Amino acid sequence: MRWAVVLLLASSCLDLNPRGEFCGDDEGEARTGLTWHTDIAPLMARKCMSCHRAGGNAPMELTTFTQVDALKTVVRDAVETRRMPPWPPAPCCAEYENPAALTTEERRLMLSWIDDGASEGTVAAAPMVPERAVLDANVTLTMPEAYTPVATFNAEDTRCFLLETGFTETQYVTGIDIKPGVRDQMHHSLVLTVASSDVKKLQDLDAESAEPGWSCPGGLLGSIKSGLGGSFFEPQRFEGKGFRVDPGDRVVLTMHYSLPASGGFKSDVTSVELKTQTEAVTPIVTLSVYNPSWLVGGMPIPENAPSTRFSWADAPGRLAGAATFDLHAVNLHMHERGKKGGVWILREDGTRECLLQINAWDHAWQGDYRFASSIRLKPRDRLLVDCEFDNTASKQRVIGGVPQSPRWLNWGEDQEMCVGFVTATLVTE
Ligand code: HEC
Repeated sequence: MRWAVVLLLASSCLDLNPRGEFCGDDEGEARTGLTWHTDIAPLMARKCMSCHRAGGNAPMELTTFTQVDALKTVVRDAVETRRMPPWPPAPCCAEYENPAALTTEERRLMLSWIDDGASEGTVAAAPMVPERAVLDANVTLTMPEAYTPVATFNAEDTRCFLLETGFTETQYVTGIDIKPGVRDQMHHSLVLTVASSDVKKLQDLDAESAEPGWSCPGGLLGSIKSGLGGSFFEPQRFEGKGFRVDPGDRVVLTMHYSLPASGGFKSDVTSVELKTQTEAVTPIVTLSVYNPSWLVGGMPIPENAPSTRFSWADAPGRLAGAATFDLHAVNLHMHERGKKGGVWILREDGTRECLLQINAWDHAWQGDYRFASSIRLKPRDRLLVDCEFDNTASKQRVIGGVPQSPRWLNWGEDQEMCVGFVTATLVTE
């Protein structure tokens, strides 16, 4: 009896099974009198055409009225569900640097234009598609051998390549960009560093496969020293901060290849461009949040269950000896059956602050989302991750054209995962 009271008290103060609090997005006001040339073409040039043009990484061109008009039903659906542009974070959660998403007003413009009959309007000059920014890189790391992707499942191939840095002294990476060998088959890519102590394990994986690199659809959890960033929008610059890379560390390039609209896969040699310096800058670290018991069978997901949810909160500050951190970017990792999820700060007083909320998880679009300004994490604050899975038939992998049947899942490279990653700097003052 006494124990029950103590437990009840403890759980009410500590919030032993904290859940995320999901926010709702603003739908905006419908508009009328819109035309392609005046309203939509300039908007799509900014938000869609960098990918949806000849040589871009999207499967179809959406640069002219005729092209968009012919596809307006699918375009409407992609915009309505916020699947496109591929910027999964919910706008109601946090503010990010260079968000690629449509604003509430832009989304409403696109939907209203289509709902109103998609009028062309008076012909005007085609709008300019903004050029991608250029990184002033001083180091280029290139895949050691060419690799021709193979459609392993869902017409995709996720492959990891170990890159030698050749660094003879410690360097700080302050910027990164990725130069795909074949643009229209690189869906996206992620770049990580691994410590020298983990290199042998990864070399063995590489050696096990006859082709260059190794298949890594489940990611690299357990071997990551830091996540340098993802590729698909602009080069990244870390302004005054940097990822420390020691001699002997390696860079891992994770390529997510997707079959181009025509022509099949081609041989690829992709490069990672880095801006580095030897002079020390504030080091960026990657904090990860997941329940350690999930790794030992503690994340059972029943077959055919439409919704199974797991959450966990932990204080990286406590683990690092009452440290305070400034948080700069966030990322969530699940596999194909992920449905919805997010990462929050659970403040000492029990309030939640949203860092990332993804309402419709798409395994194929993962990246780092950098905050518009850094967010302070105090020593007694916790990071909270919440993941919901859908293990029904519609969310299974398609291997060689055959959809796999749902089965019981747990934590594993070829099963499921739920991890929040946050890049941060230690506050020392
Ligand atoms: C970063 C590159 C990128 C940007 C920006 C982008 N797309 Fe896409 N789009 C893709 C890729 C790649 C696909 C193929 C499907 C996938 O991988 O999700 C796609 C697929 C589509 C599809 C067909 C499949 C579906 O999901 O319905 C439509 C329609 C679409 N995009 C519309 C748009 C519109 C409209 C915009 C701008 C508001 C936009 N896209 C911005 C890369 C992009």
